[in-house]
Parts: sequence; structure tokens; C-alpha cells
Amino acid sequence: MPKVGVLISGRGSNLQALIDAIADGRLAARIAVVISNKPGAGGLDRARAAGIETLTISHRDYSTRDAFDTAMASALVERRVRLVCLAGFMRLIGQPMLDAFPNAILNIHPSLLPAFPGTDAQAQAIAHGVKVSGATVHLVNGELDGGPIVLQASVEVCDDDTAESLSLRILEQEHRLYPEAVCRVLEAGWRLVGRRFVRSVATG
Ligand code: GRF
Repeated sequence: MPKVGVLISGRGSNLQALIDAIADGRLAARIAVVISNKPGAGGLDRARAAGIETLTISHRDYSTRDAFDTAMASALVERRVRLVCLAGFMRLIGQPMLDAFPNAILNIHPSLLPAFPGTDAQAQAIAHGVKVSGATVHLVNGELDGGPIVLQASVEVCDDDTAESLSLRILEQEHRLYPEAVCRVLEAGWRLVGRRFVRSVATG
């Protein structure tokens, strides 16, 4: 079973979606470790409840981003992780992680990238007045929310939406999308054509 590492900073509902997808056979993988940069993050309890090893690697304990990144990369490499999933991980990924996991780090973002990268994507979407937003799973490169897109799902923005109500509807799609995207990246045969993530298997 391919090993996956999950990085979190908070409540970990996307982590839970991955745990559930593995438990009910939709995702053929094993989560080898969940790492939080925040002590006490809610997602750590979800991991423990599923019997998954947890680590807290706080960025505050390192004087540079590279040193923090190197510590995370070492922990993941030690556990022979093949793919790293960012699930509400609120730190930028630096070069040591990108070097250790080339095209093998995924992130989920609550907008249709390249629209609204960065924090508060749902509030940005409301403020801009878009009629459709959504969720994106993408490979992580050196740019903020800028890597090749693996999967997206759209969500209609209603006139009476708030950032909170839109976030909830996008989150439903995130929980469906992330396990599916992890499957696609773990399956053999995809390649990057420029920035395009292209599968060689027949698509449904
Ligand atoms: C999600 O909206 C995700 O797209 C974003 O951060 C949020 C994390 O939520 N990157 P959770 O911790 O997975 O519940």
C-alpha cells in the first residue's frame, strides 16, 4: 500500500475525508504519519482515533523556514512516504520539502485556482462578486497555490452567501475531491505536459 503523509494546522476535516476514504475502500493508501505545526490541532485527535502516528513539528522551534522544512522532510522520508498531502496546513512549503518530494506534494484550496490564492479564498470570492467558486487540488511548487491542477469542483455562489455559508458548501466538495485526487496521483501513468496534469489511463 503506498504510504501518504498528511500535514495539518487545524481541525483536519480533509484529513478525516482521507481517513474515511481509506476505511471504506475508495482510496488504496495508508496514512503513515500526520504532522501538525500547531500543538493541539484538532486534526491530531482525528489521526489518533484512527490509530495513525502523529507528530508535532512547530515552526516556532526552528530559526529558519529551511530548518523547519528539513525537519518535516526528514520525518516523512524516514517513514518512506510516497506522497505528502497538505490538509489545511498554514505554512508555505520551502525548498527542502520540494527537493525531497518533487511533484509529490498535494494541496487543497477552497477556490477555483488561479482565482483567489492565499488566505480567506471564500471571502475573496464573495467580495469579488463571482457567481461560481469551488475547490482545487493541485501539486505544490514554489509558488503560493500555483502548482499544476489535478482536480477541481465548482460551487455556485448565491446572492445571500456569506464567507461562512460558502465555505461550508465548498468544504463538502473538498471532502469528495481530495480522496479522488490522491487516487489519481497515486495511480501510475500521469505526466505533466507543461503545467497540465494529464492521465494516460482512460478517464470517466
Ligand atoms: C480547507 O478549506 C482547505 O481547502 C484549506 O484549509 C481548510 C482546511 O480545513 N486549505 P480542514 O482543516 O481540512 O477542516
